[in-house]
Amino acid sequence: MNTLILGSGGREHALAFKIAQSSLNKKLYIAPGNAGTPENGINLDLNPTDFVNLKKHILEKEIGLVVVGPEAPLVAGVTDFIESDKDLKKVLVVGPDTHGATLEGSKDFAKEFMYRHNIPTAAYKCFDKNSIEEGKDFLNGLYAPYVLKADGLAAGKGVLILNDLSEAKQELENMLNGKFGKAGDKVVIEEFLSGIELSVFVLTDGDSYLILPEAKDYKRIGEGDTGLNTGGMGAVSPVHFAQGAFLEKVEERIVKPTIDGLKKDGIKYKGFVFIGLMNVKGDPIVIEYNVRMGDPETEVVLPRIKSDLLEILIATGESRLSEKVLEIDDRTATTVMLVSGGYPGNYEKGKEISGLNEVDDCMVFHAGTAFGSENSRNNVVTNGGRVIAVTALGKNMHEALKTCYKNTEIINFEGKYYRKDIGFDLL
Ligand code: AMP
Ligand code: GLY
Repeated sequence: MNTLILGSGGREHALAFKIAQSSLNKKLYIAPGNAGTPENGINLDLNPTDFVNLKKHILEKEIGLVVVGPEAPLVAGVTDFIESDKDLKKVLVVGPDTHGATLEGSKDFAKEFMYRHNIPTAAYKCFDKNSIEEGKDFLNGLYAPYVLKADGLAAGKGVLILNDLSEAKQELENMLNGKFGKAGDKVVIEEFLSGIELSVFVLTDGDSYLILPEAKDYKRIGEGDTGLNTGGMGAVSPVHFAQGAFLEKVEERIVKPTIDGLKKDGIKYKGFVFIGLMNVKGDPIVIEYNVRMGDPETEVVLPRIKSDLLEILIATGESRLSEKVLEIDDRTATTVMLVSGGYPGNYEKGKEISGLNEVDDCMVFHAGTAFGSENSRNNVVTNGGRVIAVTALGKNMHEALKTCYKNTEIINFEGKYYRKDIGFDLL
């Protein structure tokens, strides 16, 4: 089958890497992709939210399966578009429609969904511009720290955790007065959860589901989890503190009611569900849903899947997921993100990257990379904040990290920065 992956990050390179290994893979396209994805397929100069051009490419290239990487095209309705177009009737899509994507696109919708289906999550209330005073009263009744969340998508910046009550009240006012634009038209205030975070990934065809390997990511820019939030600076899988009984609780209390809840609510969901969890004294509590895979979590989750991923994605599109099982590699995967100096603030692009062909025993997933002026594979330059994810497998975390960190030294570009403590809290 011919497949099209939408997106351009490390997640999409990892998807391409895995799909290209399948015996069912005929032609693989990535739109727009990066300087790494041509190792596994063909890049298309196409914006994933330009549906008119998307349709043209799907027909021209005889695409049978579209796999959507990031949330933006999902929230913009790419799945609804493909499923409702009479010329694209036979095209399979992995990624929910706009109704399903609201689980990520609106925190209020996600919280209501969890309450309705008895899925454990932090206690909360939602406020808008007409209820600022009620919001402040609600804060009066909570203990610090105070958790404020813009309802809509705010480029990962919409969650504020504040220790001071008057500051929390001020921020509530700022958010409802446009600090995050329309994303802050409503604000969820919720109870603070204390525990260790991890993520569980589920693939569903709306009826059956497969649970993928879990992962932990490292969100802050600085070592010891300090400094500004980023898209993710590294990840590990498996997560040793969350095995056995804990994962059984996740399946019984969270995964099953989530899939059942989608069905009961009439949401036809085909795609990945990324469940952000807090392990609170051995009990899993949901922090958030995302309607896609995580990045950089995908760069450790997919290398641990031994099964044919394309076969499983096709089965998802064809509502035959119940026929499939996942074979998982017992080894540990770790990934370390190399980022541009200055990220997540301002940074420069266009820095030549060296050493890409000299790495050893690891997988190199490109994120923000592009071809330089020579336009060849030997002339790759930085093109974003997060540049390259270096992934290694090892018989334990120590070994995987040793291989990762050996290779992070080999790849170089001006201003390169990476965290040297990924996974150390779990060793
Ligand atoms: P979200 O965008 O909902 O994932 O929130 C971003 C980050 O804020 C999460 O990854 C957590 O680290 C933190 N966070 C969100 N909600 C809570 C909560 N109720 N208690 C503690 N930390 C939270
Ligand atoms: N690494 C977190 C995310 O993909 O949202």
